[in-house]
Amino acid sequence: MSALKEEEIFLKKIEEETKIEPKDWMPEAYRKTNIRQISQHAHSEIVGTLPEGNWIGRAPSLKRKLILLAKIQDEAGHGLYLYSACETLGITREETINDLHSGKAKYASIFNYPTLTWADIGAIGWLVDGAAIMNQVMLTRTSYGPYARAMVKICKEESFHQRQGFESLLVLSKGTTEQQQMCQDAINRWWWPALMMFGPKDSESTNSDQSMKWKIKRKSNDELRQNFVDMIAEQIKFLGMKLPDDKLKWNNKKKQYDWGEINWEEFWNVIKGNGPCNFERVAARKKAWENGEWVRQAAVAHSNKSKTK
Ligand code: 3HC
Repeated sequence: MSALKEEEIFLKKIEEETKIEPKDWMPEAYRKTNIRQISQHAHSEIVGTLPEGNWIGRAPSLKRKLILLAKIQDEAGHGLYLYSACETLGITREETINDLHSGKAKYASIFNYPTLTWADIGAIGWLVDGAAIMNQVMLTRTSYGPYARAMVKICKEESFHQRQGFESLLVLSKGTTEQQQMCQDAINRWWWPALMMFGPKDSESTNSDQSMKWKIKRKSNDELRQNFVDMIAEQIKFLGMKLPDDKLKWNNKKKQYDWGEINWEEFWNVIKGNGPCNFERVAARKKAWENGEWVRQAAVAHSNKSKTK
């Protein structure tokens, strides 16, 4: 069958909302952009466990420690899920991980910020996982089958992550003055980096146009970001905390919040590798990969041995 005919069938499937499956013909650019996005999503899940792991030994109670451990285990599982979805596109795990270590592949900029207090762990669960859910619910309808299906389980677990983060901050917001200040400080520090998770402005998004055409993306960066602001602003009020942006005000005419401008210079700077923790995050991942070499060798040896039986 000619490539033209194949492309026609592919585009018809996209139009009819039929999922594209690994064995289907797809444009090389469709394969590449899915590898790009899914692998970076997977890297984000794994790197995202580092700032949280920093507080396992310092959780304020056994209950909080258990919740944090469960969340971190979930995130690692999300990463493995997404790496597996990526492999269905013909890239090996080794190549994907090497792209992260070499700096060729990105991960969510938000994970390059430090977790300075316990309230940061609540803010990450509530704001970061909240933003991730906003995006990932949309991705349950992405056109590439394995990616869409991976999102269903991931979204269910992210909802637990967001709820526990909010509940943790709710306790602090009703605590001592010092705990309330800690809660407010975390919201102030994590607010703008959380908005950056949705990507650059639509006008500067290099991938969105084509991703929307191929229904990889169903909503634009700015649209998802606005939905997130409209939802979270109300929750900050429920916490009794001050809004972290003095331009954040409800616009009754537009029926949405107006808000200030993201520091796009900071956004691109962190993505370029100049964030507070970029170096240590990638170094930690490289060390984990090296330390895990023996486990991978043992697993391969074991599977070869069982094949020869
Ligand atoms: N951090 C790092 N890089 C970012 C970024 C961010 N917050 N936002 C955008 N970028 C990069 C893009 O990857 C792209 O670079 P590339 O072409 O080299 O990949 C460039 O900036 C331009 O951005 P675009 O808008 O053109 O890129 P996309 O169309 O891919 O949109 C996205 C960006 C919305 C992040 C999209 O890639 C996406 O939906 N990814 C899947 C979701 C995801 O990765 N979420 C990350 C968080 S996962 C998480 O938080 C774990 C949770 O459990 C806590």
